[in-house]
Amino acid sequence: MSLDQSEATGAAVTTTAVPATSTAPATRSWPGGTQKLRYGGDYNPEQWPRDTWLEDIALMQQTGINLVSIGIFSWALLEPRDGEFDFTFLDDIMDLLASAGIDVDLGTPTAAPPAWFWKKYPQARPVTREGVQLGHGSRGMASPSSPDYRRHAARITGELARRYAGHPALRLWHVHNEYGAPISECYSDASVVAFREWLGHRYGSLDAVNDAWGTTFWGQRYGSWEEIDAPRLSATVVNPAQRLDFKRFTSDSLLECYVLERDTIREYTPDLPVTTNFMATSCPSLDYWSWAREVDVVANDHYLTAERTDNHVLLALDADFTRSLAGGKPWMLMEHSTSAVNWQPRNIAKRPGEMTRNSLGHVARGADAVMFFQFRASRSGAEKFHSAMVPHQGTDSRIFREVTELGHLLGRSSAVRGSTVDARVAILWDQQSFWAQDLEWRPSEDLDHRERIEAWYTALWQRNVTVDFAHPEQDLGHYDLVLAPALYAVSAAARENLEAYVAEGGNFVVSFFSGIVDDHDAVPAGGHPGQLRAVLGLTVAEWLPLRRHETVTLDDGSSADIWAEDIELHGARTRTSYTSGPAEGQAAITVNTFGKGTAWYVSTRPTSGTLDALLGEALAATGIPDGPSTPGVETVTRTGDGVTFTFVLNHTDVDAPLPVGGSDLVSGRTVSAGELLAAGACAVIEKQEK
Ligand code: GAL
Repeated sequence: MSLDQSEATGAAVTTTAVPATSTAPATRSWPGGTQKLRYGGDYNPEQWPRDTWLEDIALMQQTGINLVSIGIFSWALLEPRDGEFDFTFLDDIMDLLASAGIDVDLGTPTAAPPAWFWKKYPQARPVTREGVQLGHGSRGMASPSSPDYRRHAARITGELARRYAGHPALRLWHVHNEYGAPISECYSDASVVAFREWLGHRYGSLDAVNDAWGTTFWGQRYGSWEEIDAPRLSATVVNPAQRLDFKRFTSDSLLECYVLERDTIREYTPDLPVTTNFMATSCPSLDYWSWAREVDVVANDHYLTAERTDNHVLLALDADFTRSLAGGKPWMLMEHSTSAVNWQPRNIAKRPGEMTRNSLGHVARGADAVMFFQFRASRSGAEKFHSAMVPHQGTDSRIFREVTELGHLLGRSSAVRGSTVDARVAILWDQQSFWAQDLEWRPSEDLDHRERIEAWYTALWQRNVTVDFAHPEQDLGHYDLVLAPALYAVSAAARENLEAYVAEGGNFVVSFFSGIVDDHDAVPAGGHPGQLRAVLGLTVAEWLPLRRHETVTLDDGSSADIWAEDIELHGARTRTSYTSGPAEGQAAITVNTFGKGTAWYVSTRPTSGTLDALLGEALAATGIPDGPSTPGVETVTRTGDGVTFTFVLNHTDVDAPLPVGGSDLVSGRTVSAGELLAAGACAVIEKQEK
């Protein structure tokens, strides 16, 4: 085979990560049928006798549930034999839900192909990087590039869409389940063929692939397309640019599977929204900026990292990222848990009030739907120890009472729907840069993009400053302050964009090990940080990774760890210097005037106090005020037409003063600023604008 651009086939979507505005018709931007916030969860009636369905539907009505996701794992029931369909159970439950006034988010069951499929098409099973072909018995485990899988997925999806088009309960389509988990990279024969085709589309010629991958290194040059393999496990480090492209290919091939099902559905129900559930900041294998363009409404699953005592801050981060993926439009919290999950090392139960705080935390940051996994706790199977809206102990339980109260609260909060969250600060988030940074043989194992992003985000969260996340190539003109806590790889387009943003008067704060490589993981000419040298006004002569537990001191009296640098200033001024360690006497934090704007650079990992002071300075320079501050009390505002909703979530175990007064949707009372909000409680204060 020779594969040049004209012959390459297959890839329907490509990794261009910059978010674009959706051109979807209005009817597709939200599941219609009610003005209420959406409330509900995954519902698996196939696990229960019909009598239980009737009880469940009555309970749904009692709790104010208005949307349930069904059918997500029902393929084996709906197509019991290859090409033989049986929709009896789904017809029945759809009709029952419709007559109870409960809408349906209908799942395509393609995350769990039936046993007959695996028997007939064993080559559709995914192969790991180590060369292990995975077996049947769980879920989410088809090779995304398998033509057999894609054909069968499209067929069952088409059958469902044809059958239920026009059904009164159907309001939303839920394609597959959490693409990328658990299977992402697949090293099957079909994947290798598809990878070559993807490369043909991306590069046009084999010479361009060789150049982009730097294959002269270690004698890896390819003379024909057939020689290119997936970057499977080898004797030592595999070509990093090849691995990076395989990650891009993986995200794109899963996205092709989604697009195939979505387009099949649209043939029958062109006016209904189609989505799939993301795992915003916790899915390492998908570049959601490109995925977000393909869904009609962004839907997210979020589970607390329960072990972490700051898990509510991580929840806020995840919700802010999801809103950013949605371009600021309302999004759906498609799954979270009423209490413990069953898959973490220690499955910590939520304490009274925590589930409500979590739910309102998402709503505060733009969610117009609060959904759970799952409605009724399973009795069998891998997830029987997972919490649910109706737990094993039934309705006479704290959890069910809280679920009911939450449903009623959301029911009287319809006015919140459609209101938006405005942020003047953006944190740059580039999944492809994270992929590149995470490859082997980096200058220190302490370099951790996620840790830096969490640290910088936390500093802003503590000040109650709301942030968006942004892609480095997107228009940043809306933001007064842009932060890059971790931006290892920067494309030429991103460099131009960031330079233009600062030159026009923007404020930009950058952390170490950013701007190091281009989008092929190659170092640009002229020294580090090549892609950000101009805007920062400096060169890094040498990286000085620190030893484990080693610290250095700074001239503001604080200390720092992990990393230091030997910086040469080319226009930037020193704000803070090293007073000990390998860079003693040299600049640690710098400030550069670039055009009409300012760029700060932080060459080490400072303490949270120093980081907070620096970000405080940057916020002050841009005129962005801090929000009201009582430590541990989260305040976020959504703005509607002539009205604001201030969400106040007290994450502490002491009562705290409310920052504003107005009509509180939670208590149903009029409250005044300064009045105490009980420990662990929430308020949603509605205020008409004058
Ligand atoms: C999600 C998944 C659900 C359920 C849930 C349990 O990731 O989409 O089907 O498994 O986790 O927490």
